[in-house]
Parts: sequence; structure tokens; C-alpha cells
Amino acid sequence: MAQHRVVLLPGDGIGPEITAVARALLDAVSQRHGFSLSFDEQPIGGSAIDATDEPLPASTLEACKAADAVLLAAIGSPRFDALPREKRPETGLLGLRAGMQLFANLRPVKIVPALMGASSLKPEVIEGVDLMVVRELTGGIYFGQPKGRVEADGDERGFNTMTYSGSEVDRIARVAFELARERRGQLCSVDKANVLDVSQLWRDRVDAMAPEYTDVSVSHMYVDNAAMQLVRDPKQFDVLLTGNLFGDILSDEAAMLTGSIGMLPSASLGSDGPGLFEPVHGSAPDIAGQDKANPMAMVLSAAMMLRIGLKQNAAADDLEQAVDKVLAAGFRTGDLMSEGCIQLGCRGMGDELLKAL
Ligand code: IPM
Ligand code: MG
Repeated sequence: MAQHRVVLLPGDGIGPEITAVARALLDAVSQRHGFSLSFDEQPIGGSAIDATDEPLPASTLEACKAADAVLLAAIGSPRFDALPREKRPETGLLGLRAGMQLFANLRPVKIVPALMGASSLKPEVIEGVDLMVVRELTGGIYFGQPKGRVEADGDERGFNTMTYSGSEVDRIARVAFELARERRGQLCSVDKANVLDVSQLWRDRVDAMAPEYTDVSVSHMYVDNAAMQLVRDPKQFDVLLTGNLFGDILSDEAAMLTGSIGMLPSASLGSDGPGLFEPVHGSAPDIAGQDKANPMAMVLSAAMMLRIGLKQNAAADDLEQAVDKVLAAGFRTGDLMSEGCIQLGCRGMGDELLKAL
């Protein structure tokens, strides 16, 4: 029997609640499909700061590197906003991404027919949207040096550096080209090459790779235009390739096409070693501990983990179908609620998902 070691990182806010739902579903599908999952829960983010004074304890990073896959819920809490940056929950997540060398973040955005009414956009605009944001995750302005805050000449200054090497662009571009080839063959690379040198390098490297992929059509779009096109006509996109910061912003925007950021999973991958699977949403401290969270992005992240990380495709299909089924049956968490539907909490939704399996 195949055995997979999964590190679970419940993190902060709604993290533990949605982790419990995902874990129960993973237990059920693994039994059904004849493989076993062992779970090792490790602290990260604010809960790790409380327990160990570090947002990413060395033992957590080591456990993640040694696992077959890592499933993270969410990190962050306003309680830590006043701490120095190296002690903040977000620094733990960035350290995990860098420490595991997860340079490629895949964020699929697909419209669920049952949720068309939940989007703030018109049904005819979003119907049939099926795109993938490929976001560079371990470089760019998130990690560039120099950075910091200084006081000079009676004023203060804060600064970060947006920087990419050619090889960093190449490896993420290759992921996007390969994905486009398996999808609809369209790659749109996002940059700000009309202003930024780092973006001109990005564009030049993508263009230089294009002849290797004659079956993929390549276009370039400035990030401001991409933000506009995502709400004007999102159907035009297949694969969107972005740097770290632009992808952070555009993937939240793209999430809202589906009606709620509570629906979007993601996978973060390196060239080898385990992947990290996590919802696109954050820790939602405002509703934490109230049994109100939508666990579906977490469940869909678990499905991505099964498919991409553990090669258990049939079990992944089951989880995705369970989500479709409960939505089609009219069950909704508060973030997705509309007239005529049945509102459930996080646990109630977990129970319906289990029944739908
Ligand atoms: C995301 C989040 C993170 C990011 C934060 C929590 C550091 O917004 O995964 O999109 O900016 O990458
Ligand atoms: Mg983000």
C-alpha cells in the first residue's frame, strides 16, 4: 500500500478549522483508494510565534523538507502587526517558500457553474472562465536586496528592490510554457516593461524562450492593462505568467471572478522535493473560531496536493467532485450565500462534503 507523509500547517485564524475539514476528507478518500496518509502537524506563523517566538521554527522547515507534501491553511493575525518584520507571521511563510525553493506558484481560476450568481461580475463575462496564474514565488521585490528603512537628512525612507536574474525568469517561464502547452496553448506574460528595466529583462527572456514552444502563442501585457482585462474579458486568458508582486495582486483579483476568494486553491512547486499546497485566501481573523469559514479552497488545495504532489488522481477527482456536488445541492458558507441556498458553517460544510464523497 502506498504511504504518503503529509505535513499539515494549520497556522492562524481560520486555519485550524479548515484544516480539520480537509484532514477528515483526506482520511476518507485515502481509505477508499487504498493508500495511507500520515499527518504531522507543525506550527507556523502567529501560532508558532506564540509557542516558540519564531514564525518558522527550524523544526517546521525540516519536517516540511522531509515530507512527501505539505498542506498549509493560512497564516497572519493583526496581533503581530507591530512586531519587527523578522518576527511576523508572513515572514514565516516567505521563509518556508524560500527554504523549500518553491519558485512556481500555480493558481487555477475556474468558474463553478453553481456559483455564477456569487460573482460581482455579470454571468456572460465570467461564464466559462478557466485560467491559470503562474506566479514566480521566491524572487522579485519580495526578496530583492537592498531593502529596509533608514533615516537620513531629517527624513525617513523605505525601500525594496525589484530584481530578477535571467535564469530566475527562465525557470518560471518554462513552467508556464509547459502548462500552456497542456492547456489551450496561450501564454500571456505580465510585466511593466514600459517603465521597469527588470520587466524588460523579463519580457526579453520570455521572448527568447518562445521559439522552443512553437505550439504556444505568446503575448505580453502591462500589469495595469492586465488588471483591467481580468474584469473586462477574463475569458481571453489561458495561462498568465507573472512576477511575485504582480501575481500576488492579480491572483486576488482573479479569485473574485469565482465569487469568493474562499474557493481558490494553489500549489507551490520547486524543481524537485515536496510541493506546498495552500488556499489563496488568508487567515480571516475577523471570523476565526466562529465556525463561519469556507473550507472549500482548503479542500481543493488538498485535491491539488493529491493530484500534483502525490499522484493520487482518482482521490483528487473525488474531492473536486464533492465540492461541485455540495454547491450544486445549494449548500453555501456565508461568503457565498445567496437567496434560496442553505447556509452552513465550516463544520456543517465539512459534513456535507463527507456525505457527498
Ligand atoms: C499570498 C499571500 C502572501 C503573499 C502573504 C500572506 C505573505 O498574500 O499567498 O498571496 O503575499 O504572497
Ligand atoms: Mg496574496
